This record gives sequence, structure tokens and C-alpha cells, in this order.
Amino acid sequence: MEALAYSDLLINEVVEADVIVLAVPVHNFSIPSTLKAWIDHIVRAGRTFSYTSNGPKGLVAGKRAIVVLASGGVCSHGPAKPLDFHEPYLRAVLGFIGITNVDVVRVEGLANRAIGPEKALASATAQSKQLLAQVA
Ligand SMILES: Cc1cc2nc3c(=O)[nH]c(=O)nc-3n(C[C@H](O)[C@H](O)[C@H](O)COP(=O)(O)O)c2cc1C
Repeated sequence: MEALAYSDLLINEVVEADVIVLAVPVHNFSIPSTLKAWIDHIVRAGRTFSYTSNGPKGLVAGKRAIVVLASGGVCSHGPAKPLDFHEPYLRAVLGFIGITNVDVVRVEGLANRAIGPEKALASATAQSKQLLAQVA
């Protein structure tokens, strides 16, 4: 009962939001377990998706999500791209509940010698400004 009440609380937050921003560090090619726990609370049959005769249907309509992905390496392209399980997974699970308007900002290469935190942040700031100009 307590778990259900907590799930309701988290789902209500999502339903009441216009824009959902997820700030996500990449952990072992995927998302942190805490974010996975949040997902497991908000992806709920009858509340955020339903089963229909045509298959599952997302019930969270009209939302926009911005996913900020921080990673030590470069995962959006190049040799580590096949290890990018985080962006496809987040797009899939958000899409599953009906959130298909998803933009991704990358703060990547934080531990890469040729990039590092300063350049990664500058790139992410530029991506964010571009995105916010579209949203506004
Ligand atoms: C447990 C753990 C696993 C990580 N796995 C990855 C990984 O698979 N790929 C990657 O590019 N960075 C990985 N990183 C680096 C983090 O993504 C990076 O440190 C984080 O986005 C930046 O946050 P911080 O400045 O708080 O460390 C990992 C970090 C930790 C702590």
C-alpha cells in the first residue's frame, strides 16, 4: 500500500508537469539504478500506459522531456556509440508511456583527455541554448 502511494505521488508529478527534465549520469553504459527505480514507479498499467487490442498505449500525452546525459566518455557517436544503451532506453521507456517529444543534451567526454569538463560543459551549454531557443 505504501509503495502504491509513493508510485501515485511520482506519477502525479509527471502528469502535472509540462516539461520533464532528467539529469542523468551514465553508469556502466546505462542509467543509474536510482533512475531505474523511479521509472519502475511511474511506468504503471492503467495509470501511465494501458493495454489495448492494438497493443500497449501511452497515457501521458502532451509532454516534453529534456534528457541531460553526462558521461565520462563520448557515447553519442564514434567507437563507444554501440555502448550507448542509455539514450535508446530512455527514449523507449518515455515513448512507452506517451512522451515522444524528447530532446537530449550531452555533457560528454568529462573524463576524456582531449575534451574534459570545461569543453564538455561549453558544448552542453551551447546545445541547451539552442534547445531553449526552440522551446521559447
Ligand atoms: C559507477 C560509475 C560508472 C560509470 N560508467 C560510465 C560509463 O559506462 N560510460 C561513461 O562514459 N562514463 C561512465 N561513468 C562516468 C560518469 O558518467 C561521470 O562521472 C558523470 O557523468 C559525471 O558526474 P561526476 O562529475 O559527478 O562524476 C561512470 C561513473 C561511475 C561513478
